[in-house]
Amino acid sequence: MATWSAPGKVFLFGEHAVVYGKPGVAMAIKPRVYVTVRKTKHPSHPKSPYIDECFKVMGVRGSVYVHSQLQSSSGLGSSAAVTVATLSAINDEFNLGHSRGAIADIAYTIEKKVQHGRASPTDTYVSAMGGLVLITGSSKRRLPPQNLQLVVGNTLVSHSTAKMVEMVGTARKKHPDIINPILDAIGAVTLNALHHIGDPKELGRCMDINHALLEALGVGHPVSSRLIIAARTTGAYGAKITGAGGGGSIIALCPRRAKSRVAGAIESCEGRAIITTIDTEGARRE
Ligand code: MEV
Repeated sequence: MATWSAPGKVFLFGEHAVVYGKPGVAMAIKPRVYVTVRKTKHPSHPKSPYIDECFKVMGVRGSVYVHSQLQSSSGLGSSAAVTVATLSAINDEFNLGHSRGAIADIAYTIEKKVQHGRASPTDTYVSAMGGLVLITGSSKRRLPPQNLQLVVGNTLVSHSTAKMVEMVGTARKKHPDIINPILDAIGAVTLNALHHIGDPKELGRCMDINHALLEALGVGHPVSSRLIIAARTTGAYGAKITGAGGGGSIIALCPRRAKSRVAGAIESCEGRAIITTIDTEGARRE
């Protein structure tokens, strides 16, 4: 029997713009998905196209038990974490010898297949590797970890990443002269944030600007706006949508002492708050 876990992720900066080759920064966060795999003659597992695909690709059969701290469709990369943790547990239980990098790559191809061609290579990479990750074009690089204090606010409004990405693509085709400069500006905010990664006040300001640009792209939602205002007015350095938007989750960068106040304000706006910080480990044997 092998149990592995893998973390969720947030985009600190640059979602949507990364789809067009601009830089972005993502970070693994503490909530995880735990998966136990056991070799058995009578395989049983939860109904999940991701888990089915993991067994198919790895060419083995087994039983699976899943325990998740991440809500699905919340924009925190839960399907990537399930896929990475399942592949890692299969790899271990059946002694297949795949590296962590190979697991990240296989997980991405599985996400692409299950999601009919649209998947985020960032989600699977960050979940497998952990830490803070700079995305530039098709390359990804781990940055030195930062002790960023975050409150994640789940709007509980489920969204489709594929639809939001398609919507931005359509807007870009229709109004290239408006949308392209917004994507460029998001890239510029990401680069500015990288220069101030140790300065939470400046990072918070960058988050606020990034959020305004995401709203200009059309991926805002009334509930995310409400949670963001609640976070800012209760002491966050800055707050923004994280991930595809149109619902999903927001993140607020907070002074340590303000985290529970910000979380309370999010909950009183009927969002679900998670107080968290960086996860530096990625996929891990339990
Ligand atoms: C979704 O978490 C982030 C997007 O930028 C899509 C992607 O990076 O593939 C919207």
